Amino acid sequence: MKKRNKIAMIGSGQIGGILALLTGIRKLGDAVLFDVVEDMPQGKALDLSHLAPVFDLDFRVSGTNNIADIAGADVCIVTSGVPRKPGMSRDDLIKINADIIRSVGEGIKEHAPDSLVIVITNPLDVMAYLMQKVTGFDHRKVLGMAGVLDTARYRSFLAEEMNVSISSISAFVLGGHGDTMVPVRSYTTCNGVPVEKFISAERLDAIEKRVRGAGGEIVNLLKTGSAFCSPAASAILMAECYLQNKRKLLPASAYCQGEYGVDGLYIGVPIIMGGNGLEEIVEIELSDNEKQQLNKSVEAVRSVVSEL
Ligand code: APR
Repeated sequence: MKKRNKIAMIGSGQIGGILALLTGIRKLGDAVLFDVVEDMPQGKALDLSHLAPVFDLDFRVSGTNNIADIAGADVCIVTSGVPRKPGMSRDDLIKINADIIRSVGEGIKEHAPDSLVIVITNPLDVMAYLMQKVTGFDHRKVLGMAGVLDTARYRSFLAEEMNVSISSISAFVLGGHGDTMVPVRSYTTCNGVPVEKFISAERLDAIEKRVRGAGGEIVNLLKTGSAFCSPAASAILMAECYLQNKRKLLPASAYCQGEYGVDGLYIGVPIIMGGNGLEEIVEIELSDNEKQQLNKSVEAVRSVVSEL
């Protein structure tokens, strides 16, 4: 009998709850919410199972404090950790979140050894690296979600600036998920027309600066946590590409072995995502300035990895 897809949320806080909601809405399969906080994942699961009949969604959600309940998961999406508070950088989270990733990584390795793991916990590229080391999974099955979100932010600001449909804007943000990320202007277009034809270099500089700081802008407004709807949607898109073998070209934090001159590190690069997880890393030609920016971003990630 064909089994239903099972998507496990490792961490059921702000992002975890939206991930379970979107799993149902996008009809990806059944959701399991795991967290260390007693009763909370069970409460969220019950609430979500009452939403399912409203939209006639045929999906089941359960909540648990026992990581063994993720057994058989096809996809694990990891948000366990602490989010930023105003004034904190993503790298400030490293000590607490690295311990949490080590512990949940062991659980994933034991109970969901065949799953695809999508890491959202920050600092993102470093936590994806650590997750792959702890689980020992094939690097194609451990990816970090950042590029889809950073690119969505770039597209959103550009569409607003040009007053055009969001679907007309195609863009790429590469590099580490931090202040050194690289919005790749040379591949950013409105229906194939370079965005520089419509927006001045000064305005593009300002928009790209806002993209780099967009996560922090939200942290400062929320005051008690970080963005949660758009990160969840971005990870769900990646899960969809895997479960439906879409072979979509998207930016994600992936283990590089010489690509872009990076060896032995997770960094945001364009990948084809399909039924094997990472199908391939696509090398695009960058301008000298973009190459320089990417190298700077790689060094920033490398220095945080060395703190592990
Ligand atoms: N196992 C499982 N869950 C854990 C563990 C653990 N060892 N330690 C902490 N958690 C849970 C917390 O109990 C909390 O419910 O992780 C959840 C995190 O949820 P939130 O605090 O609401 O944070 P969220 O906004 O979801 O962000 C999570 O994603 O974007 C990043 O920077 C962000 O690293 C943060 C992560």
